[in-house]
Amino acid sequence: KGCKLVGCGSAVPTLQVSNDDLAKIVDTSDEWIAVRTGIRNRRVITGKDSLTTLAVEAAKNALQMAEVDPDDLDLVLLCTSTPDDLFGSAPQIQRALGCKRNPLAYDITAACSGFVLGLISAACYIRGGGFNNVLVIGADALSRHVDWTDRGTCILFGDAAGAVVVQACDSEDDGLFGFDLHSDGDGQRFVLSSSLENKLCASFSVEIELIFTQCRHLNASFKENEVDHALGSNGSVLGFPPRRSSYSCIQMNGTEVFRFAVRCVPQSIESALKKAGLTGSSIDWLLLHQANQRIIDAVATRLEVPPERVISNLANYGNTSAASIPLALDEAVRSGKVQSGHTIAAAGFGAGLTWGSAIVRW
Ligand code: ACO
Repeated sequence: KGCKLVGCGSAVPTLQVSNDDLAKIVDTSDEWIAVRTGIRNRRVITGKDSLTTLAVEAAKNALQMAEVDPDDLDLVLLCTSTPDDLFGSAPQIQRALGCKRNPLAYDITAACSGFVLGLISAACYIRGGGFNNVLVIGADALSRHVDWTDRGTCILFGDAAGAVVVQACDSEDDGLFGFDLHSDGDGQRFVLSSSLENKLCASFSVEIELIFTQCRHLNASFKENEVDHALGSNGSVLGFPPRRSSYSCIQMNGTEVFRFAVRCVPQSIESALKKAGLTGSSIDWLLLHQANQRIIDAVATRLEVPPERVISNLANYGNTSAASIPLALDEAVRSGKVQSGHTIAAAGFGAGLTWGSAIVRW
């Protein structure tokens, strides 16, 4: 069985934040940001917008282009690291789209590589049988996790959502030619937003252990009022604050992430191209995760893809994490740049570390 891309869509928040706007809150300049990254503007979620509302808008646009009814979806994959609900936002999107058959919907967390991973997952479901229409959404709102006083990171990120519909087809029409996926937990320290509870709970866990060890030792249980006293009416333990999870703001060693991307992404694309029986010079478009124009240019040079065949909209949206590839694809398709039958080498890379490529036909 084959699979092909039959529709794409995207959505961005209305608030636009320029480099000059950022220069008013951190010590930076439009020139520094533009020269080092290629970014000039980004969009930021405010007011009634949420990750879910953006993702739903992108998904509706993709379904409309694909002429696929939400009722005909067999699977909804939301690729995100910033869900509105810790347990996942995909089911909320499925509900908002009005999918009456209750198709499976779940989140995939793989940072800026999430969309490529979602695309390959969709293809695997379709090729395995029983799934005909899969909606893959890449959406992130990293503005919620940025330290707006850290000029090293706050200038980079923006919020957005993008989506594609992947459909089953005959094997001769197959539109996924090759892929390559990797992760390396050793590089996690280079870009992360880790749980703060680890620190809080060091002392917190001691208290919990004490309570339950005492219980076991006395072979007794706390009476209701003693438990209330120990746990506190709001769930706190012996005066410690209630157990709540929160994450540190994004911490990044930009230089190391840059080096990793320039080293691993071309290797990954070359490996996927090889599986597809193609070379850099035989693809129509190179579509990388939009993180830094210097990374995009370095990878294109290494693969010998000329600048006119490289898709980039980084200047307008910054790094939108899992959304960046479908967002750039949607703009390129709707502007007529990417046309039916074109071959695209897409690659994502980012936190985890994770990275991966897919060679697809539009
Ligand atoms: N404005 C002005 N100066 C700045 C800024 C800023 N916004 N940020 C840093 N600087 C300063 C630094 O303090 C440093 O000053 P110093 O030399 O006096 O110490 C100088 O500029 C150079 O800093 P570097 O960090 O070395 O700058 P670099 O050229 O490496 O650019 C950047 C930094 C843009 C972050 C780059 O490293 C990069 O893009 N890395 C890749 C990031 C990436 O792709 N992330 C994707 C993964 S994100 C995810 O997965 C969630």
